[in-house]
Amino acid sequence: MQLVFATNNANKLKEVQALIPEHITLLSLKDINCLEDIPETQDTIEGNALQKAQYVKTNYGYDCFADDTGLEVAALDGAPGVYSARYAGPQRAASDNMNLLLENLKPHTDRTAQFKTVIALSLQGQTHQFTGICEGHITEEKHGDKGFGYDPIFKPKGHSITFAEMALELKNSIGHRGKATAQLISFLNKFY
Ligand code: IMP
Repeated sequence: MQLVFATNNANKLKEVQALIPEHITLLSLKDINCLEDIPETQDTIEGNALQKAQYVKTNYGYDCFADDTGLEVAALDGAPGVYSARYAGPQRAASDNMNLLLENLKPHTDRTAQFKTVIALSLQGQTHQFTGICEGHITEEKHGDKGFGYDPIFKPKGHSITFAEMALELKNSIGHRGKATAQLISFLNKFY
């Protein structure tokens, strides 16, 4: 059977394909000829993940899962949250986003934050949701050059280095996306 992962990131696809039951073939958006930008117009991370999964189901007829991630900073009332990718503007530049966040946090002593990944699954007419959270705090400065996005300024709880200073295996084992993916896989393994 076939299941679409609403992504064009070949690495993500390969990673998840290796973990799900063998008789499920994962398809990317390119595989189903979905070449347009899928709308992400909801004001929550949950809403956007669901919107993407349902878009594929409605327009292409495939069962599908989609993920959406945001960084929620306590002192900023959960911002940038669902707007993480374009926090500093439509150019979606990671360095601009980090600089703006560091600037906005200057007046605050509470620097606690969390990454949240939501995976929405549209399967056989029903929807399911899996959430992975990684708690931590925002550093005063950028550290490290691995990873992407806000990784250089996020130190996960219980660790003395940022995500951008960590080996990918460690980030995946403690990170938001890895936790949400593990729940999806455990669900699929029970379902099939
Ligand atoms: P997306 O939902 O995966 O596209 O993520 C939205 C935005 O959140 C991205 O543009 C990144 O800026 C940020 N982001 C998502 N995941 C991570 C992560 O693992 N580390 C750092 N930033 C991330």
